[in-house]
Amino acid sequence: MKASLAALSAIAILVSSTSARTVFSAFKVNGIDQGHGVAVRVPTSNAPVTDISSNSIICNTGFETPVSQTVVKVPAGAQFTAEFHHTSAGYVGPDPSDPLDPTDKGPILAYMAAIPSATQTDVTGLEWFKVWQDGLTASPRQWGSDRLFINGGNATFTIPSCIPAGQYLVRAEAISLASAEQYPGAQFFMSCAQIEVTGGGNVKPATVSFPGAYTVDASLVTDVYEDESYTPPGPAVFTC
Ligand SMILES: *[C@@H]1O[C@H](CO)[C@@H](O)[C@H](O)[C@H]1NC(C)=O
Repeated sequence: MKASLAALSAIAILVSSTSARTVFSAFKVNGIDQGHGVAVRVPTSNAPVTDISSNSIICNTGFETPVSQTVVKVPAGAQFTAEFHHTSAGYVGPDPSDPLDPTDKGPILAYMAAIPSATQTDVTGLEWFKVWQDGLTASPRQWGSDRLFINGGNATFTIPSCIPAGQYLVRAEAISLASAEQYPGAQFFMSCAQIEVTGGGNVKPATVSFPGAYTVDASLVTDVYEDESYTPPGPAVFTC
């Protein structure tokens, strides 16, 4: 029984290592779609970032050009839906690996960082706070990636109501742990959206840096088929 489970995991790893790919390329604000690639820095490739110490872990790399110069106004407290699909093209029709390959288990996370101008090229040195994460639930036994698959690639979370108004990046990320028995192995798929928070308050969340927020520990080196509990990487989720 144990051996056959291990064999199944090995097969799943082989399958997912070729198809483990997803791209966050569009978003909705309170359910209203802003359009494909609008105010999102969409990576050209759906290949993963695998080095947690690289600057590519911030907002990905190799963007479709021209990069959107749009900054979307988002009221503090709004519902933000990051839309993930199998490739940079967004939804292009039925695809068993859209929004991601279902064998590609792992958490889905979202961060924000204040930025002087949301369209500026340089994204180093920003101070990030986590606004949402979806890890592993026990009953039903589902990963955030399973819920992302069920939800057709829509990952919905709340923009905190108490943060100061101003320009921010929203970094939404899917992590595949299907090949994470060792590091490197975890695969990171993220893009950054350009928003201006309106309204809001004056609470400044505690922050972390990218790179730096992720370390090689049980959040990134694990066996998705054996895990009974799981804590996603990065800091605790900020709440107002
Ligand atoms: C996900 O969002 C898209 C775009 O708004 C929508 O067409 C689709 O119905 C949503 N999928 C699910 C399963 O909710």
